[in-house]
Amino acid sequence: MSERRPITLITGASAGIGAALARTFARNGHTLMLVARREQRLLDLADEIAALGHPRPYCQPVDLERHDAVDHIAGAMERLGVEPDIVVNNAGFGLLGPAASLSRAEQLAMVDVNVRALTDVSLAFVDALERHKGGILNVASVAAFLPGPNMAVYYATKAYVLSFSDALHWELRPRGVRVTVVCPGPVPTEFQARAGFAGDSNTDMLTQSADQVAESSYRALRQGRRLVVPGALNRLTAAVTRLLPRRFLTEAVGRYNRKRIPK
Ligand SMILES: NC(=O)c1ccc[n+]([C@@H]2O[C@H](COP(=O)([O-])OP(=O)(O)OC[C@H]3O[C@@H](n4cnc5c(N)ncnc54)[C@H](OP(=O)(O)O)[C@@H]3O)[C@@H](O)[C@H]2O)c1
Repeated sequence: MSERRPITLITGASAGIGAALARTFARNGHTLMLVARREQRLLDLADEIAALGHPRPYCQPVDLERHDAVDHIAGAMERLGVEPDIVVNNAGFGLLGPAASLSRAEQLAMVDVNVRALTDVSLAFVDALERHKGGILNVASVAAFLPGPNMAVYYATKAYVLSFSDALHWELRPRGVRVTVVCPGPVPTEFQARAGFAGDSNTDMLTQSADQVAESSYRALRQGRRLVVPGALNRLTAAVTRLLPRRFLTEAVGRYNRKRIPK
C-alpha cells in the first residue's frame, strides 16, 4: 500500500461548476487539490473551505492547454506526498460561432483542454485510483448527445468525453475504479461569457445551478453510476435525442445556436 495520502484532484476549480464541486467534495470529507490557471481564485476558495473547518485544499496553478500539464500536477503531488483517490475532470470551455469563422488556434486549445488534458488526467493516475478504490468524474454536457453546428468543436469534444468515459467505466470496473460522466444542461457560470453568448440567451426551463449539478454528480459517483444527467427536463432532452433522426437534430441545434450569436 502506498504511503502517499489520498486527495481529490479537481480541474477547473476557480469558477462555476468546478468551484461548486470543490465545496461539495470538501463538505463530504475529501482533502482537495484545486487546479486552474487563476491562482488567486484557487487560494480564495481554499481559504473559504478551510474557514468552514475542512482540510485546507492544495492549490496548483496549471494551464491545461500545455501538453506537460499533467506531468506538472503529478510532480507537485509527489513533492507533497499525496496521490489522487478521485480525479474530477471539469475544466473546459466552449466557443460560439461557425467553426470555419472562429479562431483555429482557440478551437485547438479547446480540444487540448476538453479532450487532451481530460484524457491524460484520466489515465495518468489509474494505479493510485485503484489502490484507493476511488474513481473518475468527467464533466461532459447534454451537448455530448448532439451534433452542434455553430458550436461544432465544443459539441464534438463533449461527445468524446461521453464516449471515452463510457468505455473507461467498463474497462476500469474490474479494477474497482468507478467512472462517472455527468452531462449538465445549461448552468449559469462564466462559461456563457467565455463562449461569446448573446446576453439574452434564455434557457430558463432547463437551467440548473452549479450547486445542483455538483450534488447530483457527487451522488452519482458515490453510487458508481455510469452516467448522470442532472435535471428532469435535461434527462428528457437527452432521451429524445436518441429517438430523433440525426439530420433533424443537426438542423434544430444549428438554428438554436445561431440565435445565441450576438447581433
Ligand atoms: N455552464 C454550462 O452551461 C455547462 C453546461 C454543460 C457542461 N459544462 C461544462 O462544465 C465544465 C465547467 O464549466 P463552467 O460552466 O463551470 O465554466 P466556467 O465558470 O467558465 O469555469 C471553467 C473552469 O475551467 C477552467 N479552465 C478553462 N481553461 C483552462 C485551462 N487552459 N487550464 C486550466 N483550467 C482551465 C477555468 O479556470 P481558469 O480560467 O482559472 O484557468 C474555470 O475554473 C466545462 O467542462 C463545461 O464544458 C458547462
